[in-house]
Amino acid sequence: MEEKQSSPLSFEIQAKFGKARASILQLPHFRNETPMFMPVATKGSMKGLTSKQLIDAKCQTILGNTYHLSINPGTEILDINQGIHSFMNYPRSMLTDSGGFQMVSLIKLSEVTEQGVKFLSIKDNSEIMLTPEKSIEIQNSIGADIMMQLDDVVDVSISGPRSEEAMFRSIRWLDRCIKAHKRPTEQCLFGIIQGGLNTELRTICCNEMVKRNLPGYAIGGLSGGESKDDFWKIINLCTDLLPENKPRYSMGIGFPTDLVVCCALGCDCFDCVYPTRTARFGNALVRKGGTIKLKSPKFANDFRPIEEDCDCFTCQNYTRAALHTLVTKETIGSHLLSLHNIRFQMRLMEDIRKSIKYQTFDLFVKNFMKEQFSEAK
Ligand code: GUN
Ligand code: ZN
Repeated sequence: MEEKQSSPLSFEIQAKFGKARASILQLPHFRNETPMFMPVATKGSMKGLTSKQLIDAKCQTILGNTYHLSINPGTEILDINQGIHSFMNYPRSMLTDSGGFQMVSLIKLSEVTEQGVKFLSIKDNSEIMLTPEKSIEIQNSIGADIMMQLDDVVDVSISGPRSEEAMFRSIRWLDRCIKAHKRPTEQCLFGIIQGGLNTELRTICCNEMVKRNLPGYAIGGLSGGESKDDFWKIINLCTDLLPENKPRYSMGIGFPTDLVVCCALGCDCFDCVYPTRTARFGNALVRKGGTIKLKSPKFANDFRPIEEDCDCFTCQNYTRAALHTLVTKETIGSHLLSLHNIRFQMRLMEDIRKSIKYQTFDLFVKNFMKEQFSEAK
């Protein structure tokens, strides 16, 4: 018998090629086509870009950060405005990460106990304890379509008892998050698979979290300097163990070649600061050769757009030469590059979805890799 849908999410696979899937992920605020890349708007906005620009670039779901939003604008203001969507004027779906990972990676002075993650406030240096209950309370105020559980994240290079403890603790914290979730008919809560590079720990974590019958699952704790072999092995193991009919979100993944491989291994959603961060360093993503460094003097008299076939605002209106003069001197330089890089990721995902639907994903991967590893022109 069909199980009654109690979560505000539906996930329908439209086409498959091997393990790769093209699907519709219907969320309260938007009907998303997956595989999809979700750009990171830490404070509810993307540095230098308006929500209209994000929509014009065909962004679907975007990411916000629980910790940053809890400080500014803060939960009181968010509650008054009935959440982040109207406050930030982004009508499409949003996802908030739980905050613990950002604390551990941003603030060296954090400490993890069974109760939660303790750290010093960046505002006034006071001690803050982020518990699973607190994270969910804040995320319920923010009101994103998808909320992430608070997880215990350790560096991927750490193995042994600490890695095992973090995995089991993440399961216990998931149960506390499920209990604390006050809006299960309006917001979806995803679990996060941990367990480092240990296949047994990952297997236990997948099996335990699948038992909780969540609307979706994330694979966490990767992309921290492990070898590509290890990374792919863990992703492949998790996608084998996670249910076919639920979305799978590979956290913190954003290099274009990683996106293509993880789609082939059956992941549906991705996020990363990479496209906007590399834009701030003056780098544009391109199919032929991976990136171009627009600061380089060789672009001073290159009057082509970043990419001839790109339909983004930047490529329609600016030459590489113009961008070269802007990138180091004017903030608009990095904003224009961010816009191109985000659109680049969106077009990449559009091409992946199309090739899965047309059953040409194998040719797409072959051609894409050939281009990425060729010389930039
Ligand atoms: N972002 C990238 N990786 C992770 C992770 O393992 N956990 C959380 N919460 N966020 C992430
Ligand atoms: Zn462009």
